[in-house]
Amino acid sequence: MSAVDYASLIPNNVDLASDRALQRALEAWHPKFLDWWRGMGPDGFQDVEVFLRTAVSVDREGWAKFGFVKMPQYRWGILLAPAVPDRKIGFGAHKGEPVWQDIPGEYRALLRRLMVIQGDTEPASVEQQRHLGKTAPSLYDLRNLFQVNVEEGRHLWAMVYLLQRYFGRDGREEAEMLLNRRSGNVDTPRILGAFNERTPDWLSFFMFTSFTDRDGKMQLEALAQSGFDPLSRTCRFMLTEEGHHMFVGKSGVERILRATCAAMNANGIKDPRDVAAVRRHGVIDLPTIQKKINFHYSVTLDLFGSEISTNAANAFNAGIKGRFHEDQIEDDHQLQGSTYRVLQPVDGRFDWIDAPALSAINARLRDDYIDDCEPVLRAWNRVMADAGIDFELRLPHRAFHRKVGDFANYSVTPTGDIVDASRWQSSATEWLPAESDLEYVSSLMQPCHTVGAFASWIAPPISGVGGKPGDFEYVRLAS
Ligand SMILES: [Fe+2]
Ligand SMILES: [Fe+2]
Repeated sequence: MSAVDYASLIPNNVDLASDRALQRALEAWHPKFLDWWRGMGPDGFQDVEVFLRTAVSVDREGWAKFGFVKMPQYRWGILLAPAVPDRKIGFGAHKGEPVWQDIPGEYRALLRRLMVIQGDTEPASVEQQRHLGKTAPSLYDLRNLFQVNVEEGRHLWAMVYLLQRYFGRDGREEAEMLLNRRSGNVDTPRILGAFNERTPDWLSFFMFTSFTDRDGKMQLEALAQSGFDPLSRTCRFMLTEEGHHMFVGKSGVERILRATCAAMNANGIKDPRDVAAVRRHGVIDLPTIQKKINFHYSVTLDLFGSEISTNAANAFNAGIKGRFHEDQIEDDHQLQGSTYRVLQPVDGRFDWIDAPALSAINARLRDDYIDDCEPVLRAWNRVMADAGIDFELRLPHRAFHRKVGDFANYSVTPTGDIVDASRWQSSATEWLPAESDLEYVSSLMQPCHTVGAFASWIAPPISGVGGKPGDFEYVRLAS
């Protein structure tokens, strides 16, 4: 099963050749995908060779083969992780029953909705990032951007395969709509809020891949537990790619911090809050980085949905969407009658209350996400500690700047104090990027496309990609 058929137009390990109708449907969608890619994918660079990894098999050795390819010729494949023999549904009302190879009629609408929401995020992020190539701080970073982009494209293929294979005409219509919605468009926006925000600069890109791709990881982890086996296997393979996206973000911010700290030390700047002094040296000041964390983290927390949610309870009970590492949790995996601690606003302050565990599935996934972010912050803070600079980056309080869920109606500071709306508004630019912060960051975004060179505001990586050094010609712009 791990052999990938590369001879056909659409590389796959799902034996597409044996299902002519499906193959025709996907082949009909292919040129529309390419039109979308050329129109809404990376702006420019479509005809240059990029050093990209492609999955040639789904086992440990074969899934990341590096080579030069022009992006429109990238082999977007349909790849599922190997089936687990005799796999059983691990949670909910059907716990212990064999996993489904087909969609149970009663859960058709639920599964369709979940796949469409997941699928919609994939092209959305490509659209959000489409202008970044023009201001890449190095060829190494340009390659990483395009790697993320082509793989988000492949994730779209993954969801379109499931929709077309299991939902017939409905699935084909959804597949069309996935190419028709547009990030940030007022008439046809993408489904989720964070995917309609702009990604105007590389600091935003690294924050997005650190925080929002990490939400992607949590959603995929929850769907990888699914009793609908093809979805589980699809998500398990997507997770192997997601790791690199988060690496790009985490290491990108780390390199920005290294450049900032080095410039501060070289110029004897002791006070990290002396923004003007720091900016004089063409690097990004630490308070602006904190504000960007506050923004991207809070909009990403919204993606997990309401703390208390009947939809999430239904999806869990149905065996469709589990908890993070469901198969490693020690409890009855059915949660009837059990409780989970959820932070709630009570009488003008926050309090932990015991909620029915089934209704608190979203809150729990968000907690796991928050835990997953902590080591990222620790790694970033080590840069300042090593440089002897007294500044600590922090995750804001989970209730800060929320638009979805129980905190949406409260004005909350990054440290978790509820304040009145006017006080919040008057301090907003201390907590979130001000126009002038964004303008400064944007002023730094000049392309640095010379082989081996890096923009002033970002340090070179510690090592390169695909066995190559950091100063390798990752994108052949002259070709
Ligand atoms: Fe993705
Ligand atoms: Fe991703």
